[in-house]
Amino acid sequence: MSIKLDPWGSQIITDYSKLFEEFGIEKFSEIIDKIPNPHLLMRRGVVFGHRDFHSILARITSNEKFAVMTGFMPSGRIHFGHKMVIDQLVWYQKKNAEIFIAIADAEAYAIRRLSREEVIRIGVEEYIASMLALGLENKRLHIYFQTNYHPAYYRLIQLFSRKTTLSEFKALYGSDISPGKIVSVLSQMADILHPQLDIFGGYKYVVVPVGSDQDPHIRFTRDIADRFRKELGLERPASTYHRFMTGLDGGKMSSSRPMSAIFLTDSPEKAKEKIWKALTGGRGSIEEQKKLGGEPEKCTVFEFFAYHLIKDDKELMDIYSRCKNGDLLCGDCKKMAMELLERWLKDFQKRREKNMELAYDITNVPEF
Ligand code: TRP
Ligand code: SF4
Repeated sequence: MSIKLDPWGSQIITDYSKLFEEFGIEKFSEIIDKIPNPHLLMRRGVVFGHRDFHSILARITSNEKFAVMTGFMPSGRIHFGHKMVIDQLVWYQKKNAEIFIAIADAEAYAIRRLSREEVIRIGVEEYIASMLALGLENKRLHIYFQTNYHPAYYRLIQLFSRKTTLSEFKALYGSDISPGKIVSVLSQMADILHPQLDIFGGYKYVVVPVGSDQDPHIRFTRDIADRFRKELGLERPASTYHRFMTGLDGGKMSSSRPMSAIFLTDSPEKAKEKIWKALTGGRGSIEEQKKLGGEPEKCTVFEFFAYHLIKDDKELMDIYSRCKNGDLLCGDCKKMAMELLERWLKDFQKRREKNMELAYDITNVPEF
């Protein structure tokens, strides 16, 4: 059966291996050993796929200039799923990458249909302030709103429109394609390709870390780079793909269902309640769990440990095996997660408050 990735849909991807066969995404596991001090999400297989990452790896190991570009749609509160991308950006920044981040307010306005006031406030206060609090440093950092950037960025959008067809849009995004979606896609192409222009630093090696739902945009953008190779000297961007976090209720993690996600601005009490109610890989009864052991690979709490709360691999493996052999029960395990989470949130939220002013200072806030 063939699958279709929908960047605006609510599908859950259950079988990531299909993406290798169907779309030619390459396995990250085949290059992980060559990466110096890989990020925890890379090491643990959460970042599972890539396109052309070899070229970026060569830049990292030879300490040559490269850039990382990604974007966030400011359509709701920022949660731990978004944090995964930001954590990677922090890692790349330490590897001397130039960081470009689009706040996709044009996309949020056109497709999620929020007001301008809302997308602007969410962009700065939820996203930019949180990024700074998560450790992104205000150097080699370019964060911009899609509606308030350099003229050359808009010029790209206009030029790109010439070498695309409506049938391509329909083939990639379905027949309910709309002007809003078309503008969003062209804008995202400009997001991804603009760091290559001389006025933005001429970064010819650019990697785009995203969730796999964004791959249609990546494929299309790589094609556009080919079509403008002669005219603008554009090269294909590289990309990496990470698994999505499972929603705490077992569905998709989404800002629109508050109990499915823990927001970075949730009060510790609220966050703890969400963990307490979260779907685990535990058995029907304590006796059964002691006998059979739990299933950490199906457990949203274990995912929180693996993706966010426990940095030490040995410590994580210890939880895994104690769960597996029935020594660890879900109640105790959840309490441990709640404690770690509470500490993390308190700390983070203080840092976010401290960075609020800086977030406004470094941002060209659109005037309407
Ligand atoms: N479309 C992305 C999303 O829905 C946001 C985005 C905008 C983006 N521009 C980008 C992602 C450039 C990667 C690169 O989350
Ligand atoms: Fe999940 Fe912990 Fe229960 Fe194992 S013991 S299933 S890791 S909550």
